[in-house]
Amino acid sequence: MKLIKSKNYQEMCAKVARIFAAQITLKPESVLGLATGSTPIGMYEELVRKYNEDRVDFGKVRTVNLDEYIGLSGDNDQSYRYFMNHNLFDHVDIDKAKTFVPNGLAADPEAECVNYENIVASMGGVDIQLLGIGNNGHIGFNEPCDEFPECTHVVDLTESTIQANARFFASMDDVPKQAISMGIGTIMKAKKIILMANGKGKAPIIYDTVFGPVTPQVPASILRFHPDVMIFVDEEAYSEI
Ligand code: GLP
Repeated sequence: MKLIKSKNYQEMCAKVARIFAAQITLKPESVLGLATGSTPIGMYEELVRKYNEDRVDFGKVRTVNLDEYIGLSGDNDQSYRYFMNHNLFDHVDIDKAKTFVPNGLAADPEAECVNYENIVASMGGVDIQLLGIGNNGHIGFNEPCDEFPECTHVVDLTESTIQANARFFASMDDVPKQAISMGIGTIMKAKKIILMANGKGKAPIIYDTVFGPVTPQVPASILRFHPDVMIFVDEEAYSEI
């Protein structure tokens, strides 16, 4: 596991975007594992800039996203499908048919989990997986629990995650209580993993991820067992190390 410190959020985003741009340029048909949340927004902005200025070609790229809220359609501006279209896919020459986000409106969410796991597997492996991290150490929507979940699954969101997400919704009642998320096993199969964290609020969980015990109570701690992980932090997120 490598920890890469940046002075600020912009510098961190630029560094990560360069890695993604290099990945796409070296292997145009790359499978990118993508993440949502506020953390990667600046990285997606940088990637769009690289598409426009450096002509990074997304034409053959395929993507799989980590997770989606149950009950939200892709048109809902709080859905992760909407987020991806809005922050990246609408601004580059990607074929949206090759971009995958779990279907939050599936009539049978459990069947959608099996379907999604098969989609990820059928791509022959994620070349590079982007992650943010929740304040409680969740990656994707793998919340602290007693055993690391292996495959894509339905998640009951914890109270702290529901609270943290409430800022994006009109009322508490509107905040989804469940999601579909890749499992920890799905994430760990990626060839390369990049986790981004910025801000003081993430400092304690970054410390626990890097130095605490490897435990499903801190889901991101499992990344220490992956052979190719880079954690990008700004000075604030690094401040407890
Ligand atoms: C959500 C997402 C995660 C993300 C986390 C942190 O729970 N499912 O993928 O990492 O939020 O979000 P933020 O980057 O806004 O702190």
